[in-house]
Amino acid sequence: MNILLLGSGGRESALARVIAKSKLTEKFFISPGNPGMKQYGDCVTLDGFDNIGKFCIENNIETVVVGPEQPLVDGISDYFASDNSLKNIVVIGPDKKAAQLEGSKDFSKEFMQRNNIPTARYKTFNTQNIEAGKEFLKTLQPPYVLKADGLAAGKGVVILNSIEDAEKELEDMLKNAKFGTASHKVVIEEYLSGIECSVFVLTDGKNYVLLPEAKDYKRIGEGDTGLNTGGMGSISPVPFCDETFMQKVKEKIIDRTINGLQKEGLHYQGFIFFGLMNVKGEPYVIEYNVRMGDPESESVFARLDSDIVEAFSLIKEQRLNEYAIKINPLTAATVMLCSGGYPEAYEKGKVITGLDKVQDAIVYHAGTKENEKKEIITSGGRVIAVTCLGDNIADALDKCYNNINNISFDKMYFRKDIGKDLQ
Ligand code: AMP
Ligand code: GLY
Repeated sequence: MNILLLGSGGRESALARVIAKSKLTEKFFISPGNPGMKQYGDCVTLDGFDNIGKFCIENNIETVVVGPEQPLVDGISDYFASDNSLKNIVVIGPDKKAAQLEGSKDFSKEFMQRNNIPTARYKTFNTQNIEAGKEFLKTLQPPYVLKADGLAAGKGVVILNSIEDAEKELEDMLKNAKFGTASHKVVIEEYLSGIECSVFVLTDGKNYVLLPEAKDYKRIGEGDTGLNTGGMGSISPVPFCDETFMQKVKEKIIDRTINGLQKEGLHYQGFIFFGLMNVKGEPYVIEYNVRMGDPESESVFARLDSDIVEAFSLIKEQRLNEYAIKINPLTAATVMLCSGGYPEAYEKGKVITGLDKVQDAIVYHAGTKENEKKEIITSGGRVIAVTCLGDNIADALDKCYNNINNISFDKMYFRKDIGKDLQ
């Protein structure tokens, strides 16, 4: 199979690694990719759907795997489906309407309500009914959760302890367009107290395959303090996602989501990421993402022992039920190495050393570039993900941290407490 993968981060590095491993993969291109992904496929730079489409025809691409959410929300699947010369290419990712599950919080909450999927109680407000929003806040207990409706680069969720701050935030989002058009509508919802985890499936719209679950560490500081980031590390499997809990996740969340998609005629073939809260053993959906997680993918795909490309090939004929997934029983741990200052301002262009000294670990590039001297330099906030497999969480983490001792760049920062809460 000839494959094009879109994206350039740690998540796409993890996807690239398993795609490259498959015996079914023939030509494999990545756009734009990064220096670390060159070992897996040919990196090319393709801007815009027209260029992507043209490249696919010229290179006989059969499957396009879309890493990030933005092209899906922008309608890349619809673009392929509506063009006669592209419509036979399988796009791994939902169409524009179904991508609203991530692209609009209001759409996803309505979908969950219609399909009886457990989620926090909520209401949606706009500039016309700010006062009603303030009244709704009074019916909730603190802390207050306000969510910009649209994509806001992971920053659109604000959690506040006082009702005065929550009212001010509501005005800021709606009246002052704090998140631009993303906060033209705001979802206010009940705060759910529990432990978060991430559950993933790959679906053909009818059948689904359950991938390993993971726990992500979102805050920048140790002990889950400080600003939210894209994710500082991950662990898979998650000990509290036991059989009883996962059974509830399947029945109340995954099955109802897949059935809801079918019933409502939403065209979905691709990964679904369920961001869940475990509230006293009951799963609630915090959010849907229409892509894999990052840095969850780094741990999840490290544990995938079956062939992902075989799964992609079954999607086209809606035969994903025939896929025999094989999951490595070992524990995977991922630690993100970040630029000092992230998630606020940080410097780029720092030379990274020691990547060649790593042993018994996977080094995924997330935010790197190559300079004129062919050295690997930093080019993002999250720079490198180090993933190791071990007999248990402590063992996997020991390997990660030992390997990280060999890697360095100016102002490198990482959390030293990934997975500590689960041991
Ligand atoms: P989201 O972008 O919807 O994933 O929200 C970002 C983060 O905010 C989540 O990962 C949770 O930690 C937190 N969060 C969102 N909604 C809630 C909620 N209803 N109750 C508690 N925490 C929440
Ligand atoms: N790690 C969370 C995400 O990918 O959205």
